Amino acid sequence: MAFGYGPHHCIGVNLGRLQAEVSFATPYSRLPNLRLRPSFQPHQVPGPTFRAWTSLEMVYDGPALPRTDIS
Ligand code: HEM
Repeated sequence: MAFGYGPHHCIGVNLGRLQAEVSFATPYSRLPNLRLRPSFQPHQVPGPTFRAWTSLEMVYDGPALPRTDIS
């Protein structure tokens, strides 16, 4: 649904999906025990158009791990 369908199906669909995958997988691979802050209370952006949250509070344990995708 997000990328349309038929003759106008998004030509950037593969790039969009790859960016989404990297942006979720990278923090979880480098920040130990990454999780939602238990006290986090989600609030939606006001208005009828967008349903995004205004913030997302996460916590993790210890220092960030080094990147493994470059040498
Ligand atoms: C998360 C990212 C993206 C989303 C959600 C998205 C969504 C969409 C949607 C829903 C359509 C269909 C519009 C319609 O039916 O009229 C579309 C078309 C299109 N998208 Fe994307 N898009 C994304 C990223 C990209 C990227 C990265 C590119 C280019 C590198 C791109 C290029 C295009 C083009 C050129 C069309 C028109 C295709 C046509 O009419 O034949 N999009 N996109």
